[in-house]
Amino acid sequence: MTSARSSYSRMAITLHWLIALLLIGNFAGGLFMGDLLAPSATPEQKQLGFKIVQLHKSMGLTILLLSLLRLATRLVSGTPPLPGHMTSTERLLAKATHWAFYAIMILVPLTGWIMVSASPLGFPTIWFGLFEWPHLPIETSKATSGAASEAHEIIAFAGAGLLLLHVAAALKHQYLDRDDVLARMLPLVRRRSA
Ligand code: HEM
Ligand code: HEM
Repeated sequence: MTSARSSYSRMAITLHWLIALLLIGNFAGGLFMGDLLAPSATPEQKQLGFKIVQLHKSMGLTILLLSLLRLATRLVSGTPPLPGHMTSTERLLAKATHWAFYAIMILVPLTGWIMVSASPLGFPTIWFGLFEWPHLPIETSKATSGAASEAHEIIAFAGAGLLLLHVAAALKHQYLDRDDVLARMLPLVRRRSA
C-alpha cells in the first residue's frame, strides 16, 4: 500500500535503523560465536561463547518482535510513493527487495528459534538474563535442529547479500538520481524537495 505522506513516519525510520543495527550486530556476533564454540576452542573461549550465544538469541528474538511490529505498522500506514523517474523494473526491484527483507527479518530469527527448540541439547534461552524465553512446542529432533541451523545460516547470508544491493540502490538514488529517497529515511535531514 502507498501512503499519502511524502516521507516515512518517525516510527518507520526509528524501526528501520534500530533493526538494521541489531541485525548487522547479530550477524557479526553469529559468525564470531562459531569460532568460540568450535571443538578446538579453549574452556575459557567456550564459556565466553555460551554467554555470546545467550546475547545472540536475546537480540535475535527482539529483532523478531520489532520486525513483526514494523510489518504491522507498514501494512497499516503504507509507504511514501517512489519517485516518478523510476522505471517499472526499478520499482519492481525496490519492492521485491523490501519484501525479501521482511521475509529475512522474520525467517532468520524464526529458524534460530526452531533450531534451539528442537535441539536435543535443550539449552534454555534466558532473555538478556531476565527470564526464560519459551521454546516452540516442537519435538526434539537432531534432524529438525540441523535443518533449521542450515536454513538459519543460508538465509542470514542471503540477507547480507541483499544488504549490499540495498545500500548500492540507496547510494544510486542519492548521488546519481539525486532524489530524496535516502533523505526521507534519515532522521533530522532536510529533504531535497522540501
Ligand atoms: C535475527 C537475527 C539473527 C541473525 C542475523 C543471526 C545470524 C547468525 C549467523 C550468521 C550465525 C552463524 C552461522 C554459521 O556460520 O554457522 C548464527 C548462528 C547461530 N544462531 Fe543466529 N541469528 C539471528 C537470530 C537468532 C535467534 C533468534 C536464535 C535463537 C533463538 C539464534 C541462534 C543461533 C545459534 C544457536 C547459532 C549457532 C549454531 C548454528 O548455527 O548451528 N540466532 N546466527
Ligand atoms: C540489515 C539492514 C537493513 C534492512 C533489513 C533494511 C530494510 C529496509 C526495508 C524493509 C525498507 C522498506 C521500507 C520499510 O518497510 O520500512 C527499507 C527502506 C530503505 N532503506 Fe533500508 N534496510 C537496511 C539497511 C539500510 C542501510 C544501511 C541504508 C543506507 C545506506 C538503507 C537505506 C534505506 C532507504 C534509503 C530506504 C527507503 C527506500 C524507499 O523510500 O523506497 N537501509 N530498508
